[in-house]
Amino acid sequence: MKMKSPINIGVVGATGMVGESFLNLIEKRNFPFGDVRLFASERSLGQTRKVGDKEFPIEELSEERFHGLDVVFFSSGDDISKEWAPKAAQAGAFAIDNSAAFRMSSRHELIVPEINGARIPANPTIIANPNCSTIQLVMALNALKNFGLQSVQVASYQSVSGAGMAGQKELADQLLEDLKKDNPIEDASKTSSTFGKTPAFNCVPKVGSFDEDGFCSEEVKIVNETKKILELPDLRVSAFTVRIPSWNSHAEAVWVELEANVQRDDLIAALRDHAGIRVKEELTAFETPRELSGVNEVSVSRVQKDFYGTNRWRMWVVADNLLKGAALNGIQIAEYLLSRDS
Ligand SMILES: NC(=O)c1ccc[n+]([C@@H]2O[C@H](COP(=O)([O-])OP(=O)(O)OC[C@H]3O[C@@H](n4cnc5c(N)ncnc54)[C@H](OP(=O)(O)O)[C@@H]3O)[C@@H](O)[C@H]2O)c1
Repeated sequence: MKMKSPINIGVVGATGMVGESFLNLIEKRNFPFGDVRLFASERSLGQTRKVGDKEFPIEELSEERFHGLDVVFFSSGDDISKEWAPKAAQAGAFAIDNSAAFRMSSRHELIVPEINGARIPANPTIIANPNCSTIQLVMALNALKNFGLQSVQVASYQSVSGAGMAGQKELADQLLEDLKKDNPIEDASKTSSTFGKTPAFNCVPKVGSFDEDGFCSEEVKIVNETKKILELPDLRVSAFTVRIPSWNSHAEAVWVELEANVQRDDLIAALRDHAGIRVKEELTAFETPRELSGVNEVSVSRVQKDFYGTNRWRMWVVADNLLKGAALNGIQIAEYLLSRDS
């Protein structure tokens, strides 16, 4: 099916953090949109959102409302996607899904356009957007893929926006509450309804939920999705995910074992030449989550050989989880569809 401009779009979860990013990006990138239909929970009915110079109502999900749409972005969680993304595809739209519902399904593609855009199917179906922590990791790894990836270890430092609007609100409220006390960390085991233990003046080694083996769901996503996107089923990937009190953007400390014995200049050149990556070349320069908030690229810095092992390298990878980690990657998938068919 050929995708023709203007594109009629739907956004499911339009009032959430990722949904809002979608709406901003559609304007910012001059995405050629025609009709726009916005969906959220019944709590938001009666509200509107502006896209371009037009105001659109928030509507309730229904199969009929998908008719005539070319692309529907889903960012309302796994359950909503499981139920409604197949209906959007059935109605003739490409359903670009930010949830985890279809990522590891063998019938669905998991897409980062700079890496595997060519795998985007020709006809309307569900296309999965990877997990935010996975996207920034695979961008850096893909740049190094030609040197032979042997193993990867990653430790994440994830912002509260990764848990949506509720995550940011809770951190802000708890920080203000703690600062009113003489000792802000007086309540050592303070809890959080969003994160379990509070991330306020803290860090929490749990992102998502634990499985029976003690791995966090975020860790399992990073491991499995990385292998699928890079098409390296035997790659040894290990992930340890941590929530920190940063507002937006995730950071990752990454160790990579390569097959080839390469020079630092070769690694830097490969990273610099990869679409969507920006590199800090000096050994001691780096960028932080705060600096990457609102930035489209993935930042890679502190690229250096590790203390031990000739082919083992370390790097610091930072990206905006709401942009490249979610909405931007989704829009890029739609842009890929358009450019392929034009
Ligand atoms: N935040 C990130 O960094 C990030 C990155 C990658 C992927 N994701 C994924 O994207 C999805 C949304 O995340 P978020 O951070 O944007 O969360 P969020 O800020 O909590 O937003 C959730 C959205 O889902 C809507 N929603 C809830 N129940 C609904 C229902 N029954 N029917 C229709 N819409 C409903 C909400 O509408 P109301 O406002 O009406 O409640 C809101 O628009 C999740 O699957 C998440 O895993 C998030």
